[in-house]
Amino acid sequence: MATFQTNASYLNTIITNASLQRTTRPTTATFQVNNKRSFRGCVSSNDVLIECKDIYKSFEEKEILRGVSFKIHDGEAVGIIGPSGTGKSTVLKIMAGLLTPDKGDVFIRGKKRHGLVSDEEIFGLRIGLVFQSASLFDSLSVRENVGFRLYEKSNMSDNEIEESVRENLAAVGLKGVEDRLPSELSGGMKKRVALARSIIFDNTKEAIEPEVLLYDEPTAGLDPIASTVVEDLIRSVHLKGEDGVGEVGHNIASYVVVTHQHSTIKRAVDRLLFLHEGKVVWEGRTHEFTTSTNPIVKQFASGSLDGPIRY
Ligand SMILES: Nc1ncnc2c1ncn2[C@@H]1O[C@H](COP(=O)(O)OP(=O)(O)OP(=O)(O)O)[C@@H](O)[C@H]1O
Ligand SMILES: [Mg+2]
Repeated sequence: MATFQTNASYLNTIITNASLQRTTRPTTATFQVNNKRSFRGCVSSNDVLIECKDIYKSFEEKEILRGVSFKIHDGEAVGIIGPSGTGKSTVLKIMAGLLTPDKGDVFIRGKKRHGLVSDEEIFGLRIGLVFQSASLFDSLSVRENVGFRLYEKSNMSDNEIEESVRENLAAVGLKGVEDRLPSELSGGMKKRVALARSIIFDNTKEAIEPEVLLYDEPTAGLDPIASTVVEDLIRSVHLKGEDGVGEVGHNIASYVVVTHQHSTIKRAVDRLLFLHEGKVVWEGRTHEFTTSTNPIVKQFASGSLDGPIRY
């Protein structure tokens, strides 16, 4: 397999950092989720993987984030919701270390991050971002796109990578598309190929680093059934490493999903952060989203034109 002459920073899935083992184990509780699988939720406050503290970010004089603060604990499945253009993707890029805040700090496992991704290597946490747009390499086949990381970095043979690519594509409901180019796929298929690329892992490695995956609108543009496949996949990849459900390998400690879709909110996350006008204006459990009396949340949940959110 030829080495790709491509800058890894353009990868749809960027994985920042590896090394170090996890140091503490959280005290966890089990929540029942609506796909009937148990989920490890964190109840310990000293097991914060990522903390954003009073983050400010402007683009060309336009202040987008104005003091965003939140924590992502070990074992959590967190959703970020909010009106379009409110800064959700910006928050994910800041968490992933692709953008630096103008003010405020990001802490990875309690340690302050300085600069961008390369500075994280001491923190022992990989942070992967699945971008909102699929961003596949146009000139590479689906197989090469999905297996990119393994072809570049792993000791796996071409046959093993091919097999793994096939399995991961099947997990997102795609079969027999390995030889196609991205231009020969529909938008929803591209999205799923990008997702397969984010979850593929090197099964020859002995130590698997804990990882936080950030998904930016993973189900946007997918039909309802494909959405369900993706929502369950996000959940199951997360469960694999922790609970030994399915094959061993992944160690997705926590994940964050930005979404506008009610099905994804209900099926794939347990806690929600609502971003509006540059701040987190509401936090709650998923089931509280539709019953909240907060006027902003109520308007968003019902899609009403009347309320504090104006377009
Ligand atoms: N690199 C950039 N340069 C200039 N403006 C930017 C940049 N990135 C984001 N913005 C602006 O910041 C605002 C927030 O963008 P962001 O993509 O974070 O919103 P979002 O909440 O993800 O929206 P959506 O739900 O539509 O995806 C928008 O007004 C956008 O135009
Ligand atoms: Mg966005």
